[in-house]
Amino acid sequence: MNELVRQQFGANAERYVRSAVHARGQSLERMIALAKPQPHWLALDVASGGGHSALAIARRTRRVVALDITGPMLKAARAFAREQGVDHISWMQGDGQFLPFATAIFDLVTCRVALHHFSDPPAAIRAWARALKPGGRLVLVDNVGPDDRAANAYVNAFEALRDPSHGWMHPLATLVDFVKQAGLRVTHVERLIKPMDFAAWMDRMNVDAETREHLEEMLRSSRGPAREFLNPQGRPPFMTFDLHEGVVAAEA
Ligand SMILES: C[S@@+](CC[C@H](N)C(=O)[O-])C[C@H]1O[C@@H](n2cnc3c(N)ncnc32)[C@H](O)[C@@H]1O
Repeated sequence: MNELVRQQFGANAERYVRSAVHARGQSLERMIALAKPQPHWLALDVASGGGHSALAIARRTRRVVALDITGPMLKAARAFAREQGVDHISWMQGDGQFLPFATAIFDLVTCRVALHHFSDPPAAIRAWARALKPGGRLVLVDNVGPDDRAANAYVNAFEALRDPSHGWMHPLATLVDFVKQAGLRVTHVERLIKPMDFAAWMDRMNVDAETREHLEEMLRSSRGPAREFLNPQGRPPFMTFDLHEGVVAAEA
């Protein structure tokens, strides 16, 4: 799985750095509002990708450690941060499931739109909980799937077709359970519905023509709870569908 992640994101790093969906987006605003970063804080942003979450936190804290498994992604994000005049982010290559840090050193841990690539999300969240100081905050944002089991399998298959490094999107309630099982106290849970431009979503992963047709067919032929969840609207090239993001805030 990690090798697939490196291949997919390594080949598409620049597109993610320039992605408006990742650079702005409601979940970024919600993440900052819930994290309430303080100027003296040391923060860890796991799976930093294009660096948008790390940058937003860095503008409000002493230092951010931005960790990602994909070297080219880190390189592109670092250059982007420099363009913005931000130089107090430490960029580190590593697996967010095995943190190379002492216990209880971070005031804040964030992870946005990445956990669905991880092979063992509960183990990852346990590692983040260990890295938090007592009273430290976690804000986790990730794409979530429908509660209905069959619909969830359908939506996950749709995602995996576009991105072979997609692991599994859990329902929001399962994410909340993972956080509780890591020993953290959940303080806030919410769901954000994010209408996606279907063509731009495929462009970001450089999807080939045959796969595009297959994905379009999956949207058109979706039924029942899967259709309600995906909510396809319009026709190509102006087609949209809904992604659902779960936001979970917790304290150590
Ligand atoms: C969609 S991007 C994240 C976007 C970013 N957090 C933001 O808010 O703009 C997903 C990232 O997860 C990273 N990733 C996936 N699995 C990982 C793992 N096990 N450890 C660290 N990073 C990982 C990928 O390399 C990719 O850069």
